[in-house]
Formats: sequence, C-alpha cells, structure tokens
Amino acid sequence: MTALGTVEFWDSFHRREHTEWYLPVDVVVREVLCVHAELTAQLLRFATSQLASGGGSNGGPWEDAGRGQVSRKRPRILHSGCGSSTVGVVLQREHDCDVVNADFSEGVMDSMRALYPGCEFIRSDARDAAEFPSQSFDMVIDKGMFDSATARTEGRVETAKKLLDEAARVLATGGKYMIFSAFSNDELGQKDMTDMLVHPGFGGQVQASSIP
Ligand SMILES: C[S@@+](CC[C@H](N)C(=O)[O-])C[C@H]1O[C@@H](n2cnc3c(N)ncnc32)[C@H](O)[C@@H]1O
Repeated sequence: MTALGTVEFWDSFHRREHTEWYLPVDVVVREVLCVHAELTAQLLRFATSQLASGGGSNGGPWEDAGRGQVSRKRPRILHSGCGSSTVGVVLQREHDCDVVNADFSEGVMDSMRALYPGCEFIRSDARDAAEFPSQSFDMVIDKGMFDSATARTEGRVETAKKLLDEAARVLATGGKYMIFSAFSNDELGQKDMTDMLVHPGFGGQVQASSIP
C-alpha cells in the first residue's frame, strides 16, 4: 500500500497543514444543500405515508409526535474523511444541518474539536466504521477521501469495496453517498471510477456530474 492510503501519511500531513481540498467551502455547501433538500422532501413523503397508513413511528428518521402529528427530523449527514475541512461546520452553523464529522486521523479530529466547539468530530476509519450503527445517516459526504484511499494504491479495489460497503451500511433506506472527486478515469490509470463505484448497496446506481 502506498503512503497515501495510510493513517501515518495523513497524521503527518495534518500535523503540517490545514487544507480545504479541491473546492471552496461555499461551492461544496451549495451542492450538498441541493441533495439535502431532496432528502428532506423524501423523508417528508415517507413520514406522511407512514402516518396515513397508521404506521406512526418506526424508529426511522421521522417520529410520530402523537395525535397524528409528525415531528420532523432533519436528514443526518456523515462527513467522512473530513480532515480539516470546514464544510461540516458551515453546514451545521449556517444551515442548521445535523452533521457528524469523521476522519481516521486522531490528531486532526482533536484539533478540529478544539477549533469548532459544538461541532462533532469523531475518529473513525471509513473502511470499518463500527462507531456508527447501521442506517444511522441519510447522507454521507466525502470530499477527497475515496480519492486518496484508492489512489494508485495496491489493494485499492478492495479498499473501494470496503468504503462502499460501510457507506451503504450506515445509510438509511434512500440515503445518498455524495463523493467529490478530482479523479478522471485517465488519472486512475487501470481503474474506471464509475465502474468502481457500482455497488449492490446502492442498487448499482451512480450519478456523476462535474463542477466547473
Ligand atoms: C484529500 S484529504 C480530504 C480532506 C477533506 N475532506 C477536505 O476536503 O479538505 C483525505 C482525507 O481523508 C482521510 N482519510 C483517508 N482514508 C481514510 C479512511 N479510511 N477513513 C477515514 N478517513 C480517511 C484523511 O485523513 C484526509 O483527511
């Protein structure tokens, strides 16, 4: 495995610098909020149908507040491989989103916790994210983590599978895994990014779009 896929590489990187990768925060936040709005509407439709059928609370993302009223819960976001990105902080503080930030580098989680009190930063390896129960999020955001974990790395196909297995496990039904990637298929050499992202946990569905 090359250095880029290892926690040692990232521990050392995060000790040296705090970087926002790929895109300005406001651009990423705007993209995330579009998907967040779709998920909110999806959750509302689900809650309405549950109540109409007398289902009430099912332990899912919506709660029956009693007397046929629904108490809305916001879509829950896991910001995976967050590093020192402030995307999750801005989503929570400025857009009232429900965000858990996670990264496998303990050092950067400690420094982010100190810098942004009130925001949640958890050390977790996205290949085996046992800290998070199954179906506990509606959205996983990943900016650069999938890229780095699978970049020119021996065993990257297995790593990609583990990342997708875990994302599919922690997501509730209808949830989305949103990956911001700077990789074209060419850069990846022997792998095809779109092929690599096809996974049964997501019904084989991959939607790709580019941000200018
Ligand atoms: C290219 S950086 C992107 C950081 C941040 N998302 C951003 O956009 O600024 C990749 C990040 O993924 C984290 N990472 C890599 N592999 C990981 C894994 N298996 N589990 C959790 N975090 C991981 C690294 O520690 C690093 O913070």
